Amino acid sequence: MLNWDELYKQCMECRNCPLHETRTHVVFGVGARDAEVLFIGEGPGEQEDLRGEPFVGRAGKLLDDMLAIIGLNRDNIYIANIVKCRPPGNRDPLFVEQEACIGWLRNQAVLIKPKIIVCLGRIAAMQIIKPDFKITREHGVWFERGNYKLMALYHPAALLRDPHRRPETFEDLKRLEAMIKETCSR
Ligand code: URA
Repeated sequence: MLNWDELYKQCMECRNCPLHETRTHVVFGVGARDAEVLFIGEGPGEQEDLRGEPFVGRAGKLLDDMLAIIGLNRDNIYIANIVKCRPPGNRDPLFVEQEACIGWLRNQAVLIKPKIIVCLGRIAAMQIIKPDFKITREHGVWFERGNYKLMALYHPAALLRDPHRRPETFEDLKRLEAMIKETCSR
């Protein structure tokens, strides 16, 4: 029977792909283990690798601001990444690295049982929602898989690079807020 302690312990020792060779920390995830909303990023950057926590750099600060707009914070959601070890130089995680790592996240989702999954950026959306996901066309669109409602937002790092996308993201956040009201009990 799957449990958090066992999953965490095994994940900390993971050597499923070569990213383990260059990591400082495995970035497991943070937040409420019974969260109704699960946010999924791409993979740890430099700061996350050093601290062992997701989204603690500049993009993380923006993510906190985005969450606050709709009354969310790190204590009432869960945040994890597609890959748990930093890809060197912050490159995109390779598909083989994603596949080697995704079992940890799937098990976390089984334990959390979220109602809503929010993918942050293209990489997470392609892995979680569908392989041909197009972030420019499909951000803010709701998808359904089994018991989950899914949507993608622009990645906060993309919003730092392209601030003109922020108004669209504000609209997407409002859509997320409405879905939380409709679907979640808390
Ligand atoms: N970008 C991500 O996708 N995840 C993090 O944890 C940090 C930056």
